[in-house]
Amino acid sequence: MKMILLNGKTVSASRLQKLKELATEEFSVSNRRPGLAVIRVGDDPASKIYVSRKVRACHDVGFNSFECLLPSHVSQEELIQKIKEFNARSDTHGILVQLPLPKHIQEGSVISSISPEKDVDGFHPMSLGKLVAGEQTMIPCTPLGIMTLLTEYGITMKGRRATVIGRSRIVGRPISILLDQAGATVTVVHSQTPHPEALCREADIVVAAAGKAGLVTTNWIKPGAVVIDVGINRLASGKIVGDVDFENVAKLASHLTPVPGGVGPMTICSLLENTWKSFKNSSSH
Ligand code: GUN
Repeated sequence: MKMILLNGKTVSASRLQKLKELATEEFSVSNRRPGLAVIRVGDDPASKIYVSRKVRACHDVGFNSFECLLPSHVSQEELIQKIKEFNARSDTHGILVQLPLPKHIQEGSVISSISPEKDVDGFHPMSLGKLVAGEQTMIPCTPLGIMTLLTEYGITMKGRRATVIGRSRIVGRPISILLDQAGATVTVVHSQTPHPEALCREADIVVAAAGKAGLVTTNWIKPGAVVIDVGINRLASGKIVGDVDFENVAKLASHLTPVPGGVGPMTICSLLENTWKSFKNSSSH
């Protein structure tokens, strides 16, 4: 069986092109553009790269971006003050605080200070509560990007077994809820799970979001499974790899995401789609 690469780069590019057309049309009619505030604290090198990609994508589709860089020693109060300023601005429709934050800052308090209407990351307790309740809400970007990619490639979720590796607030937990809502029977495995590979081997769809290079090898994968690799791990050599042993799993899987070029571009695409949604929902629109 020939394995199909799930190409997040091309899917994202074509969806971003559509957003660009919508934004251009909107600007010609109302003279308004969606605006995204991106707040980064400290000098985490990975965060620096991710944030610059988000800002560039905004520029490419004709959204405004407001980048705010704060020093690593900034106090929680100062950070929340900054968020409140963006909450009040009518030119800002989405607010994103890049995670992780320095240890002295409580992520939960910071995220809760973002106005739920501008929570384009979908991490606010209100957004997450609505997601669990099955109500319309902002869906976290990486899980939304995975669902979009599966849908674009016509992959059926209804009635299938899915295993999610990892239970983070950013990926594992929300994607397990979304797959469940799409009709899959979902198992979540994590660092405390005995024999995760045995549970994973039962899955028709595998989402690997553990953050461990090469964790998922061939004995984790049922032949013909769809494999989504969320990992972005930098090896000592500088090479970026996912959580999946790509070369060997590619011989077994029916569909597989590359790293880079799979889930990563879809995350950015979802962020801009969420910002557009927030813009269209805004009262000043
Ligand atoms: N850090 C890693 N992924 C994400 C994300 O999707 N959003 C934010 N804000 N921080 C992250």
